[in-house]
Amino acid sequence: MRAVLLERHGGPEVLTLTTVPDPVPPPGWVAVRVRACALNHLDLWARRGLPGVRFPLPLILGNDVAGVVQATGAGVDWVRPGAEVVLAPGFGCGHCEACLAGDDNLCRRYAILGSTVHGGYAERVVAPAANCLPRPAGLSWAEAASLPLVFLTAWNMLVHRARVRAGEDVLVLAAGSGVGIAAIQIAKLRGARVIAAASTAAKLERARALGADETINYAQADFAAEVRRLTGKKGVEVVVEHTGQETWGRSLLAAARGGRIVTCGATSGYEAATDLRHVFSRQLQILGSNMGRKASLHEIFRWVERGRLRPVVDRVLPLERVREAHEVLERRAAFGKVVLEPPA
Ligand SMILES: NC(=O)c1ccc[n+]([C@@H]2O[C@H](COP(=O)([O-])OP(=O)(O)OC[C@H]3O[C@@H](n4cnc5c(N)ncnc54)[C@H](OP(=O)(O)O)[C@@H]3O)[C@@H](O)[C@H]2O)c1
Ligand SMILES: [Zn+2]
Repeated sequence: MRAVLLERHGGPEVLTLTTVPDPVPPPGWVAVRVRACALNHLDLWARRGLPGVRFPLPLILGNDVAGVVQATGAGVDWVRPGAEVVLAPGFGCGHCEACLAGDDNLCRRYAILGSTVHGGYAERVVAPAANCLPRPAGLSWAEAASLPLVFLTAWNMLVHRARVRAGEDVLVLAAGSGVGIAAIQIAKLRGARVIAAASTAAKLERARALGADETINYAQADFAAEVRRLTGKKGVEVVVEHTGQETWGRSLLAAARGGRIVTCGATSGYEAATDLRHVFSRQLQILGSNMGRKASLHEIFRWVERGRLRPVVDRVLPLERVREAHEVLERRAAFGKVVLEPPA
């Protein structure tokens, strides 16, 4: 099959389309013909390499796949060849205490397609059969592939970690990121008021169209001061953080007394300084969040089917234009998801 194989870390130029043997599904797994694969910021981290993290090179990137089941491994009787599916990107060992409790994202052997094992920058991918979800009705392949990782992540951040409640104020940073577009919609679904921050007026206009109640251009204004103005000096109950170093200090200031700052990432850098005086004197809660429970995707897809959550596709490119796709994310040029499609 044709696939983009990452053989060494580096810039977009290390992404090359090549031919590799077709993967065969082991027992309990399926092989899926990839119709669309959405990018995530994780793809950039994996491509560049991260200190302290070992990516198993050579690796096929791509966490978010929608496609058609081609073959099933032994013991799989609940999904059949021909089924149109979206793959959950993460999976645990299946037998540890965390996995048995449904917290597969706390499993010590937690794996992610396109990061720990081969992913979807290819014509075919193999995945655990339990990771197959039916493709939601009415979505294109690109839209379907735009759902899993960021909606799962934002759901875990807001629903399981920050436990956002109706009537609360939620600040969503980088509103046009994959995590941001999901977080805006999930916070609205839970009845919160959403303040969205992004670096351009065009992104903010689109954030409003997605449901954001208020917007802040954080490239031009001090967003903590703007949040205080918009909330009558109170601050927000929940900050959805994933931009990291450049925003972290202001995120602490934007939170209300007793507020929760939930973080899943550090796009601008991870060496952020925390002024502990704010944490104790204002009784802030700092909550880490990583991916989400696989079962949450079933709940998320129900809301998608009901039209209450929707994917946002920035653009679709053919698989061979993978370098350009990475450059779009790197330039902060996307609103929503950049999607690759192998030849049909
Ligand atoms: N732990 C997890 O489970 C998990 C899951 C998903 C994502 N993440 C992390 O969450 C972050 C967002 O992921 P994503 O896939 O949603 O990202 P994305 O779609 O690539 O969007 C990133 C956005 O961050 C903003 N940004 C701020 N500083 C930036 C910088 N120095 N370089 C590039 N962009 C910058 C930009 O928006 P503006 O131009 O508006 O500032 C950009 O559009 C990443 O750090 C990712 O690794 C973690
Ligand atoms: Zn486990």
